Amino acid sequence: MKVLITGGTGYIGSHTCVVLLNNGDDVTVVDNLSNSSEIVLDRIKKITGRKPLFYKIDLLDFKNLKTVFENHAFDAVIHFAGFKAVGESMAIPLDYYHNNITGTLNLCRLMQEYGVYNLVFSSSATVYGEQATSPVTETMPLLPTNPYGRTKLMIEMILQDMAISQPAFRISLLRYFNPVGSHESGLIGESPIGIPNNLMPYISQVAVGKLSRLNIFGNNYPTPDGTGIRDYIHVMDLAEGHLKAIEGLHKSQNTAIYNLGTGKGYSVLELIAAFEQASGREIPYVITDRRPGDVAALYADPSKAAAELNWNATRGIQNICADTWRWQSMNPEGY
Ligand code: WQD
Repeated sequence: MKVLITGGTGYIGSHTCVVLLNNGDDVTVVDNLSNSSEIVLDRIKKITGRKPLFYKIDLLDFKNLKTVFENHAFDAVIHFAGFKAVGESMAIPLDYYHNNITGTLNLCRLMQEYGVYNLVFSSSATVYGEQATSPVTETMPLLPTNPYGRTKLMIEMILQDMAISQPAFRISLLRYFNPVGSHESGLIGESPIGIPNNLMPYISQVAVGKLSRLNIFGNNYPTPDGTGIRDYIHVMDLAEGHLKAIEGLHKSQNTAIYNLGTGKGYSVLELIAAFEQASGREIPYVITDRRPGDVAALYADPSKAAAELNWNATRGIQNICADTWRWQSMNPEGY
């Protein structure tokens, strides 16, 4: 297949490039490099022996994005590109709505114009919001509580309306839980700009000595050890789920929605212990106040993806921590 990957130099996008290239697919990446580095492309080549075609284009730049569709006959698109920090989205919501939604509308218009009807969209478990009860199924209420999560839900609705208006469209909406880990080579991984918002990159930067200690946001949740529980899914399992989703598009009716998680939750303290075991490094921490908007526990019911995509997460928490540590210790400053 000839696949266009928007945001393909990003964390999940780059791992998905590796899976598709290893599958023998041709990959073209469009990315504005606002939250990633072009170095990723050389690393992808080192892993797969093949370098994706790359265009440094912002999805808001309709004119240049159109030239990509003029020059390539794509079989499918995987759409990752978008701003993705929950806290930042609260501070600059209009930038999030403009960037994520207008960018998607530009992409959809060109897919329509050039007859590219197969689409996999990078959605998120944040669409379920704070009232979600775990294990979370795809039919649970959708009440995102931040602008980032609301852009994901709005885009899901836009794509479903587009598919209803044009039945030729085959769309898969993938709701990720907590993506973590790195390719086993240690050549690509999560490389957040500045202080990490998320737990795993923060822990790995403490382990490598970049940060002094972890702040645990509350240990008085109604969970076994009082700390928050999440569904940490290896980014390679996630990437493989995208290939399964593309391969399954022809079977789907219009739009299909899947939770991509392991179905198992780990607490903050459990993740710390697993990372200390994998890295041999101590992770000092202090307990601080809860972070607004955090829920006690959130993990997936991944049975629909298992049944319809023949996909399951196969990498466990030790694997996740070992791969993360290999990436972080080989790349202490990220890319
Ligand atoms: C995990 C747990 C925190 C940092 C986020 C996004 C979501 C999705 C996945 C894109 C929680 C605790 C965290 C820290 C801590 N991304 N924590 N100290 O909030 O579940 O989801 O990433 O789709 O949109 O919201 O992930 O890693 O931030 O938090 O104690 O420094 O770790 O309270 O219990 P979250 P997270």
